[in-house]
This record gives sequence, structure tokens and C-alpha cells, in this order.
Amino acid sequence: MAKERLDKIIASTGRWSRREAKQLVREGRVLVDGAIAHAAEDKYDAQTVQICIDRETLDCQRGTYLMLNKPAGVLSATEDGRGKTVMDLLPQEYRRRGLFPVGRLDKDTEGLLLLTDDGALAHELLSPKKHVDKVYYARVSGLLKQADCDAFAAGITLGDGLVCQSARLEILTAGAESEALVTLREGKFHQVKRMLASRGKPVVALKRLRMGPLTLDETLAPGEFRALTPQEREKLGK
Ligand code: URA
Repeated sequence: MAKERLDKIIASTGRWSRREAKQLVREGRVLVDGAIAHAAEDKYDAQTVQICIDRETLDCQRGTYLMLNKPAGVLSATEDGRGKTVMDLLPQEYRRRGLFPVGRLDKDTEGLLLLTDDGALAHELLSPKKHVDKVYYARVSGLLKQADCDAFAAGITLGDGLVCQSARLEILTAGAESEALVTLREGKFHQVKRMLASRGKPVVALKRLRMGPLTLDETLAPGEFRALTPQEREKLGK
């Protein structure tokens, strides 16, 4: 692990800003491996160093993994001048940790969103080459039929010529409004909505239920989040 500046390691806990961390060092309140720290610029390995502030040992381990049940009306971004983002749903301590959402859900889409500071994991889950399944619940206007499932399996070509990979459409209820599960291995812009619209079945509601080995915890109300359990982290290899 590359070494990082002391003030950066302290700030990564989300409890102090870099400026506050420097001040703590100046005030002699920071112990590094048992000795008073003198310079915020000194570099250490965050995975192994022991840092105490006012006698409290900090948890400086990298790797924060949160499962959020994204509500409709919130943007999947870290910052966006156009409105509230998923970061606004987190307490201050998490907002300072450099977390970001793994992939995007549309503003009106709900459901499973992983927030992390682990860029390598995000790449693993999002790279088209890794073929990670994403499962969505969709409610559409119109009667879904077997022909729609066959078209999804064959690979839908969208209006702009984009050819989608084979996908699974599993009809749950069929009527004037229908419900289905859609499983994709890619994540193009508005993909589920565009695929269903191309079959004349516009999406009325969309919710992501699964991403690779992670399943949405249905006890999380929209807008609620929790840290991944050790079992969930293990499934992600973390
Ligand atoms: N497909 C969509 O159309 N929207 C989403 O938010 C996710 C997948």
C-alpha cells in the first residue's frame, strides 16, 4: 500500500477535515505508533499505522462499502448542481470519505446502489468484460408476452442502432400493466427503459434488486443505507 500523508489519513476517517487534522498535529494531540506526531506531511501506510487522537485509536482502514436503497428523485452522483444526490442522504462522517456510487441509476429509479471508496471494486462490477448480472424489477404499461422475452434473449436493437447483448425478461404479471424481472450484463444509458420501450412497453417504475453477488436488503426503506455485512464483503472478495 502506498504511503499517505498523516493529515490525509486522519481526514479519511471523515471526522476531521485536512485543515483540522493539521491543527490536531500542531496541538500535539496526535500519537503515531505511540509517539507524538510532529508533522502532518509525514507519510505512513494507512493499513498498518496506529493513530490515536486524544487517546482514542482511529479506524483508518481503507474500504468503506455501503448498501443504499436509492429513493426516486435523487441523483446517482457525488455532486450535481441540478439537485439532491445520493451523498446528501449520508451523514457528514461518510460524506468526507471520498465515497462514490458504483454505476448510475436514473433519477426516478429506486433500489440497490453500492457506495464505496474502492475504485478497483467499482471497475470489477462495472466493466462490460466482467459480465456482472444486474437484476431489475420493472412495471410497464402494456401486456408483456413471450415474444418480448424471446426478443430480449435474441438481443434487442434500439432505435439508434445500438445492439444490446442477450438479456433475460421474466414476466411476473401480465395485464394492462405488467411486471417483470430484467437481467442485464451491461449498463448502457437508460438501457432497461429503452429496451422495454422498443417493445412498446414503456417503463412506469424501475427498481434494481441485485448487482452481481449483492442483493438489495428489502428491510432498508428508500433512502436508508447500511454497511455491507462481512458475508456480503466476502462475496465481493473484500
Ligand atoms: N436501466 C434504466 O433504464 N435505468 C436505470 O436506472 C438503470 C437501468
